[in-house]
Amino acid sequence: MRQSCCHDAASFVVLILLFCEAPPKGLSDVIPKDECGTRPLVDEIPSGTRIVGGHDAPVGAWPWQVSLQVYRFGLGYSHVCGGSLINHNTVLTAAHCIRKWVDPEFWRAVIGMHHIFKHQSYTIKSRVRAIILHAGFNQMTFQKDIALFKLVSSITFNAFIQPICLPDGPLHLNAETPCYISGWGNTNEKGNPRVVLQEAQINIISQEKCNSHEWYGGAVYEDMLCAGSEGGGVDSCQGDSGGPLVCYLPNDTKYYLIGITSFGLGCGKPKFPGIYIRTATYRSWINSQAILYDQTTTVRIPCILIFLSVGWPTLPLVL
Ligand code: ARG
Repeated sequence: MRQSCCHDAASFVVLILLFCEAPPKGLSDVIPKDECGTRPLVDEIPSGTRIVGGHDAPVGAWPWQVSLQVYRFGLGYSHVCGGSLINHNTVLTAAHCIRKWVDPEFWRAVIGMHHIFKHQSYTIKSRVRAIILHAGFNQMTFQKDIALFKLVSSITFNAFIQPICLPDGPLHLNAETPCYISGWGNTNEKGNPRVVLQEAQINIISQEKCNSHEWYGGAVYEDMLCAGSEGGGVDSCQGDSGGPLVCYLPNDTKYYLIGITSFGLGCGKPKFPGIYIRTATYRSWINSQAILYDQTTTVRIPCILIFLSVGWPTLPLVL
C-alpha cells in the first residue's frame, strides 16, 4: 500500500520536473543565422538620399528597428533611443541610453513602428524583463557602449517585424557595399525629432582618417567605427543612439548589423562623422548574454511555483 502511494508520488514529481525541463538551447537558436536580415516588404536596395540628410523610410523598410521608450509620470511613454531586434526576445542597443533608468520597469520596446504616434495592428509593444549593460562601459570614452534588453514577450516575426543578422567576425566591406542608418532622432543638431522613421545611406570611413589630428584625434577606439559622409551633412543625431547601422551583403542577400549608433561631435559636421560600436567585436559577449533570462526566468521559476503549490505534499512520501 505505502509502496504504491510512494511510487505514484514519485512519478508525479518526475512528471512535473519533466514538464518543467526545457530542451537545452544551442547558440544557433539564440541568434538566428538564416531567418534574419531580410525585408519582406521592400525589394530594392535603397539608394540615393542620404536622419540628418535622410528621408522618410518606406513602411517595413527596417523591420528590426526598435523604439526604446521610457515612462514619465504625467507624460506617458516617450522615445529615448533606437535598438535592433536580434531574436524573438532580445534587443541590442547602446549602454549610454540607460542613463538613470536602470530599472526595466521604466521601459517598453515598440517594434514594427513607422510613425511614432500612430501604431498599426502589427505594431508590438513589449515590457522589458531585464537590462544587461556591458560591465566595461566607460562613460567618459564611450568604449563598450553596448547593452541588451530582454523582453517580457516573445515577438512573433511578420512582414513588418524581422530580426537583423549579426556578423560572426569582421565583414569584408568595400566602397560599394551599401550601408544605412535609421531612426527617429533629430534631423539637425538643434532639434527636430521626426515622427516618421528616417533612413540614410552612409559611407564607412577608415579608422585612420577618422582618428587623424583634424578629425577625432584618437578618440575612436578599436571597438568603434566611423561612418557618415566625408563632407558632413549625412549623419545620425540625438535620439538615434542604440539604433542600427546595417550593410547589405549581396552574396548573402541579407542585411547585417555592423554598428550601434553611439556618439558624435554635433551632428552632420564635416570631419566629425557618427561613431558606432562594432558589433563584430562583441559577438561572444552578445551570445553569452542573450541566453540569460530565457530558461531561468521563463521556464524554471513558474515550474518551481507549480511544484511548490501542488508538488510539495508528495515530498514526505517520496523521501
Ligand atoms: N548620442 C546620441 C544619442 O543618444 C547619438 C549621437 C550620434 N551623433 C552623431 N553625430 N552621429 O542619441
